Amino acid sequence: EDHRLLRIASAIRVIPDFPKPGIMFQDITTLLLDPKAFRDTIDMFVERYRDKEITVVAGIEARGFIFGPPIALAIGAKFVPMRKPKKLPGEVISEEYSLEYGTDRMEMHVGAVQPGDRVLVIDDLIATGGTLSAAIRLLERVGAEVVECACVIELPELKGRERLGERPLFVLVKAAA
Ligand code: PRP
Ligand code: MG
Repeated sequence: EDHRLLRIASAIRVIPDFPKPGIMFQDITTLLLDPKAFRDTIDMFVERYRDKEITVVAGIEARGFIFGPPIALAIGAKFVPMRKPKKLPGEVISEEYSLEYGTDRMEMHVGAVQPGDRVLVIDDLIATGGTLSAAIRLLERVGAEVVECACVIELPELKGRERLGERPLFVLVKAAA
């Protein structure tokens, strides 16, 4: 267990001052370059969720699109993309959320998630929790149950976990902000 988590943590590259001075950017592209570490990452999520009767894996654009689909395939769930504005061609419902400067919007296709669906939400990283909480609001608006949110990395100093309320959050690696 520990050796897998260590391999995963060591495969994530930290780039100081990106995209702005003072930000320590957690770069998961180096994790993707290490097939054993990438495999371990997916396996650890699959082991946790395979017997939880998850019907939908919802992945958050952009990096939730990397980790979500292999998990969905392995546990036999649907994959639903949660996208940036104006990307989805069908009818959408949307939720605004706040960023450090200004707001953004997340969109999901109407009908992709049904009342009663048991959803696992996947992203690469939780910082302030604004992104994941917008995803939860969207999914709960359509009557789905968010069973858990899962990220590869958490920045605990930013207290994003508190913004998710009662919803459980599972992470593999904790890092300094
Ligand atoms: C990053 C990261 C998470 C989000 C976390 O995405 O991939 O999705 O920020 O931040 P929060 O917890 O403070 O909301 P970003 O918005 O940079 O977009 P990208 O994934 O499309 O690059
Ligand atoms: Mg993101």
